[in-house]
Amino acid sequence: MTLTILKGTIVSAADPRRPEVTEGGYLAAEDGVITGVFPALPEQYAGAPVEDFGQDLILQSFADLHLHAPQYPMLGTGMDLPLLDWLNAYAFPTEARFADPGYAREVYRRLARELIENGTTRVCMFSSLHTDATLILMEELERAGVTGYVGKVNMDRNGAPGLLEETTEESKRETLRWLDACGDFRYIRPILTPRFTPSCTDELMEFLGKLALQRDLPVQSHLSENQAEVEWVRRLHPDCAQYWESYAKFGLWKPGTVMAHCVWSDARERQAMHDAGVTAVYCADSNQNLCSGVAPVVQMLREGVRVALGSDIAGGGHLSMFDVVAASIRSSKARRILDGWETEFLTVPEGWYLGTSAGAAYFGAAPGFAPGNPLHALVLSDGALPQPHPLTPLERLERCVYRRQERAVRAVWSAGRKVYAAP
Ligand code: GUN
Ligand code: FE
Repeated sequence: MTLTILKGTIVSAADPRRPEVTEGGYLAAEDGVITGVFPALPEQYAGAPVEDFGQDLILQSFADLHLHAPQYPMLGTGMDLPLLDWLNAYAFPTEARFADPGYAREVYRRLARELIENGTTRVCMFSSLHTDATLILMEELERAGVTGYVGKVNMDRNGAPGLLEETTEESKRETLRWLDACGDFRYIRPILTPRFTPSCTDELMEFLGKLALQRDLPVQSHLSENQAEVEWVRRLHPDCAQYWESYAKFGLWKPGTVMAHCVWSDARERQAMHDAGVTAVYCADSNQNLCSGVAPVVQMLREGVRVALGSDIAGGGHLSMFDVVAASIRSSKARRILDGWETEFLTVPEGWYLGTSAGAAYFGAAPGFAPGNPLHALVLSDGALPQPHPLTPLERLERCVYRRQERAVRAVWSAGRKVYAAP
């Protein structure tokens, strides 16, 4: 048996309002599965090797439930257009480059490493429409220690020169070729990924819905991100009262479906998410960059909708989930103002919970460092920041969310394996 015992200031987001803090505590895992957080070393582990991180914070690592790997090369640029123009001007030409497997290898190796160095160990990720580049992405994530889902994008209409599946047949064939090649991956699994309703013909959507059912595959896409997009879907599917129904009518709206953005989802659309067990991904940074709007995240949570966080790079400008948590909290405050001070905002513990436990829940984990969860953890050293007076562990956590600290992540574990140690 492999035993992992980490010692430090442990913060476990078991409850969205009150994280559990254990100072000088021990986080233990057997064969990569957590057995508990203990204030003192349990008898059964006496004499076992302990990795002692002193005062450093031992935190859950992050789950990023929505990001676009082939937009990584444009991260931090091109934020001056609304969604549909932004796709045509920036995103589609950038993704078109991934027809070149050599380019894909180089970019995806860097992306995978940057994710791990920033403590993101679980993802739900879009690739591009290219099958070979998607397999390369999965290889690089697996090699770096990232776990989760990756989707080869389907788009057989409304693409761009160099970024379109020329026929529906081609999209279907490439999807099957991709799925057939996914068998060897252990930690990265496939998720069906119609880009969004405007990108996929009815015939393709129907095919994907049937495939999801036959092979028991999860689905990810975009929903109600931008008002022009919502209007476009209305014109494309006049038989659907709302955007979500354009997925539902093809069997793509089901437990395990992940829908990014949901900025303009009204009470009825949110109810449909709740009833189906669909996860809404709050992409606050991207929603602001592309002037999409301010999603009613607190309202969704109050209504019992499953919500997780997404960086949505490169609509979002930050890969680090510390920044994404901060953007999410900030954006919830903007929503409070827009709502006439009627709704609450996300507190720091709530934002932290969404970036860690809520995202991990999509992968079947219980909240916090619960026994039985695979070990997904990071060690954060905030010792380089000034400490003129003592801060509580939760004050330190808040400061780590808001203050960017280069190289503060000292070590990372993913699915029980140590995947990173700072040089
Ligand atoms: N909707 C369809 N494609 C995309 C994309 O690449 N990014 C975002 N933010 N929204 C989309
Ligand atoms: Fe997106």
